[in-house]
Amino acid sequence: MSQVVRYELRDGIGVITVDYPPVNALGRDVRAGLAEALRTGLADAGAQALVVIGAGRTFPAGADIREFGQPPQEPSLPEVIDAYERSEKLIVAAIHGTALGGGLEVALGCDYRVAVPSAKVGLPEVKLGILPGAGGTQRLPRLIGVKPALEMIVSGEHVPAPKAKELGIIDEIIDGDLLEGAIAYAKKLVADNAPRRPIRDMQVKLDNPNLFEEFEAGIAKKQRGFLAPFHCIKAVKAVVELPIEEGLKRERELFKELVDSPQSKAQRHVFFAEREVARVPGIDKNTPRREIKTAAVIGAGTMGGGIAMNFANAGIPVYIVDVSQEALDRGLAVVRRNYENSAKRGRITMEQVEQRMSLIRPTLSYDDLKEVDLVIEAVFENMELKKQIFARLDEVCKPGAILASNTSTLSIDEIASATKRPEDVIGMHFFSPANVMKLLENVRGAKTSNEVIATVMDLSKRIGKVGVLVGNCYGFVGNRMLHQRGAEAIALVNEGATPAQVDKVLTDFGFPMGQFAMSDLAGIDVGYRIRQERRKAGENVPPSWLDKLAEQGRLGQKTNAGVYRYEEGSRTPIPDPEVDRLIEEFRKEQGITPREISEQEILERCMYVMINEGAKILEEGIAQRSSDVDVVWIYGYGFPVYRGGPMFWADQVGLDKILEAIKGYHQRLGGAQWEPAPLLERLVKEGKGFGSL
Ligand code: 3HC
Repeated sequence: MSQVVRYELRDGIGVITVDYPPVNALGRDVRAGLAEALRTGLADAGAQALVVIGAGRTFPAGADIREFGQPPQEPSLPEVIDAYERSEKLIVAAIHGTALGGGLEVALGCDYRVAVPSAKVGLPEVKLGILPGAGGTQRLPRLIGVKPALEMIVSGEHVPAPKAKELGIIDEIIDGDLLEGAIAYAKKLVADNAPRRPIRDMQVKLDNPNLFEEFEAGIAKKQRGFLAPFHCIKAVKAVVELPIEEGLKRERELFKELVDSPQSKAQRHVFFAEREVARVPGIDKNTPRREIKTAAVIGAGTMGGGIAMNFANAGIPVYIVDVSQEALDRGLAVVRRNYENSAKRGRITMEQVEQRMSLIRPTLSYDDLKEVDLVIEAVFENMELKKQIFARLDEVCKPGAILASNTSTLSIDEIASATKRPEDVIGMHFFSPANVMKLLENVRGAKTSNEVIATVMDLSKRIGKVGVLVGNCYGFVGNRMLHQRGAEAIALVNEGATPAQVDKVLTDFGFPMGQFAMSDLAGIDVGYRIRQERRKAGENVPPSWLDKLAEQGRLGQKTNAGVYRYEEGSRTPIPDPEVDRLIEEFRKEQGITPREISEQEILERCMYVMINEGAKILEEGIAQRSSDVDVVWIYGYGFPVYRGGPMFWADQVGLDKILEAIKGYHQRLGGAQWEPAPLLERLVKEGKGFGSL
């Protein structure tokens, strides 16, 4: 018998147990083991029926993703599932944990399915840029109907067991011991002479002949650029158009097209990058962690309120501190409005709104922070102010409290120097809107202790964020790269492009919004203030037409006018001839003769300048690995997942090609940003990519 699948006879029922930690993924050995265990069970005269179950934490959570892109190995999953579906003996799948992808497909090859109440099922393949390729697209619609199946397959969402029972995926919820319950259930089926129930024999009917067209139109905007969701629809369509054998073949063809596509390669890269990001050399499960039972946020502005919501959502009580009652009231009102909007959309109940609001405690007094385990400062970007706050926190907070700053650009080391405990100081840089964006850049200062880093990395996950550990420098990873792209976008407009043209290239690439629409969202005054500060500090920051916008009070979406104009209550940017005139004037003042700029040049300059900066960031050790940079851009800035992140994308384009273009721009335009990063030059010389680091 295989090492990873066991067979035993229990109480007249043959029990097949998959035991392949951590998630019982259906790798080659598991597939072979499942096939062999089935043969054993069928040959076992003592077994009246069979039960399939997962050992450890879960029913199989899917095919083994590491095998994709490798030469296929027999037996294939569809073959194994086919054998289960054709078995002469009744088979019951007993589900706990997560029966996902190939795991759920195995369960769909069984006659009946039972689950513990906490189990979840789903076909999340679409999130990996593929589709269920072991019969899921053909069996699930036959079992539960075309529309609910389409919804599950195209969204990839996990469905909790009670809902799965309503849908008809699960036949029985088992309270108590799953295996005992499943054996009892199988015995009862045998005693009742229950029929075998192969899904392949079930009939589907389509009530709405336009369902597929309507469904496709419904996802067109949200899934723009992705291949897999549309292939999923095509596969499910085969259920109503073809007999099952042909439908399965069609599913296989579509699956193959996707699995070999650059999109799926990119999405698989993101899957592993997201898991890798939690690993920090020198920190492991033995590194001590501090307990975070209570938290506090300094500053009740948009950022502070958003940050506090993350804690309340995770059930962690959190103080919000500000200097005036008015500021607190305003901040809390915004938080409440956000929660109530979520409730209106049905995402949470009104009861949850109240429960979460009750965890957020406004206060004017630092004395309330004496006992908290973590404080996050989220005030205006001003070093002096931050240092005063940290000196104060150092006085009031208990020993062992973690003192964090949400700064997006300032030095954590300098902030930490205002305290006598720099080892407890760390950056926690949230992205706006802080209650929505999943990225959290955790900034390690020169003296931050491993214990504090480990605690904050764990906490990130607990509050629903993807925490990325980064080093201390201006703008850290994300904003440092973004600032280069922003400067290049402005330069392109100075030279002759329109803001809308630049933005279109970026949205065509797959970003949810372009550089200038993003400036309007963030507020034109934000960049203006940073530029003015830098000018005051004596830095050479060239004048910009964006300064003029700010000076005219065109501050972006909040004033219905910025780089674009906005209709009252709308967020759709509309190009504004007034801004074109202003840019024209600016060019004249600067003696610039505008020229036609190609989309190719816009894309190259906006993207390659980021890649070059990314290479410098890697070389300086600001990011631990190139896939961390990808995660930052995907979760913080909406980089299209199907392109895998900037560094992965660069490897796909070819670093030699990128380096050559960078050298060309350096010659033509000059500037430190175009000086080729030595790491990039070295990789090209060695014929390697960022993925090799
Ligand atoms: N294949 C290979 N490795 C997998 C895997 C899979 N399907 N699923 C998880 N793992 C690995 C992870 O990489 C991680 O490894 P690490 O410890 O070395 O980093 C480990 O298992 C634990 O995973 P998580 O850290 O993600 O653990 P969680 O408890 O947070 O989540 C989970 C568990 C919900 C199962 C989550 O891992 C997950 O969503 N997995 C992917 C599920 C999936 O997409 N299944 C479909 C696969 S495609 C398929 O089945 C095709 C078929 O239709 C032919």
